[in-house]
Amino acid sequence: MDEFAKPAPGVVLLAAHPNWRESRVNRLLLDGARTLPWVQVRDLYASYPDYDIDVPAEQEAVAAASLVVLLHPVQWYSMPALMKLWLDEVLRYGWAYGPHGTALQGKDLWLVATTGGTEASYHPQGYNRYFFDAFLPPYEQTAALCGMRFLPPMLLHGAHRVSAEEIAAHVQTFTQRLGSYPDWPELEDMPACPACDVPQGDRPAVHDQAAAR
Ligand SMILES: Cc1cc2nc3c(=O)[nH]c(=O)nc-3n(C[C@H](O)[C@H](O)[C@H](O)COP(=O)(O)O)c2cc1C
Repeated sequence: MDEFAKPAPGVVLLAAHPNWRESRVNRLLLDGARTLPWVQVRDLYASYPDYDIDVPAEQEAVAAASLVVLLHPVQWYSMPALMKLWLDEVLRYGWAYGPHGTALQGKDLWLVATTGGTEASYHPQGYNRYFFDAFLPPYEQTAALCGMRFLPPMLLHGAHRVSAEEIAAHVQTFTQRLGSYPDWPELEDMPACPACDVPQGDRPAVHDQAAAR
């Protein structure tokens, strides 16, 4: 089958930046993703300025994708608040995980993030005191709980100091990666996601959540 006959896998990109106008890097990554017609871009702060997330619409978008990309600046060693709320509200028990919660099983999750701190600052002797990997387990385990593979993240450290050329090269690598997914060499050897069964008593009952909608 030639390259052009291959159906493009669904890619949904969830982008969260509380202040796009001041963004040096994420804004350009977002612009790059928007040039790719098969990538569905969902700009969370633009869509939900009042934090009132349309859960069914978001669930429908991610359920249709093979790859879910999280794009954001690192804030307080984590994700911006609206992206966290997106996880809280969209990844429901009984839908994304737990009994019958299989909507995301077999999909891939890819974190694309920037930090203000340089790579050297993410070191036991640096002011951030930990290697950046130490901040990844919440993402990784969120993916695992939903039956998703957590792909190797794409990070740009020192976002305020890197040159315009470095940013341009980073954006180009990002769009190339989106273009070549799922033909990434490192995915061949990646193990399938481990099964993580959440016992009923560890979350509110599914019918209570349905009533709260
Ligand atoms: C509220 C807030 C919290 C931040 N927390 C961190 C942090 O924990 N670690 C870090 O390296 N940078 C932190 N930063 C810096 C951002 O990560 C940085 O400004 C961003 O990655 C730059 O990307 P942009 O050019 O797309 O805005 C923080 C910035 C803000 C506004």
